[in-house]
Amino acid sequence: MTIGIIGAMDEELELLLKELNIKEKKTKANMDFKYGLLWGKEVVIVRCGIGKVNAAICTQILIDDFDVDKVINVGIAGGTEKDVLPGDVVIADSLVQHDMDTTVFGDKLGQIPRLDTFDFKCDRELVLKAKEICGDIEGHKCLIGRIVTGDQFVNSPEKSRWLCSEFKALACEMEGGSIAQVCYLNKKPFVVIRSISDNASIGAHMEFEKFMGISIANSTNILKKMIQNN
Ligand code: ADE
Repeated sequence: MTIGIIGAMDEELELLLKELNIKEKKTKANMDFKYGLLWGKEVVIVRCGIGKVNAAICTQILIDDFDVDKVINVGIAGGTEKDVLPGDVVIADSLVQHDMDTTVFGDKLGQIPRLDTFDFKCDRELVLKAKEICGDIEGHKCLIGRIVTGDQFVNSPEKSRWLCSEFKALACEMEGGSIAQVCYLNKKPFVVIRSISDNASIGAHMEFEKFMGISIANSTNILKKMIQNN
């Protein structure tokens, strides 16, 4: 049983990599795949870079070259609901790519044309396990709901509120929906766990730098317990 762990940025993986007992490293598509033992479990940790294309390439390599059984995506996200605040954690139950638009052909906004699903559902068992552990985080909420993904950093209140009303999104980021699509196509269980670093809908988009540290610590802690209990 090998778990693939994807983060978009070095900062999101720094705490995890400190704990990894590396057995093998392979570089492909400009990404370093680090295989080893993390708290006694076999994992491959990789920084995919920012955006949907990087994330998709990375996920497919994890599946093809490392034969991972599950994929977990951790990192930070922007809150879109007004009460999803920096430091809170959102566990995705489903993901949608908000920048996919073929509405001109009659598709719903976000629908990938000719695909048999609108949203990508996370593995229920992984979601419930993450939720169980999340209760331990003090002073912040842990929510389960939809995360939306697009190739843009959302920092306008209008866009943020629109994502919330159009997609019922709790949070937005730039990789999860693409990782989810690749896992869906390859029939691999996955979950996306994001800690909130900013919230444009309430004007907290400047909080990004300030909250990144605490956000990353929160999602790393959840991941640690998930892996230890796996
Ligand atoms: N990641 C963290 N905050 C974000 C935001 N506001 N938009 C997109 N990705 C993010």
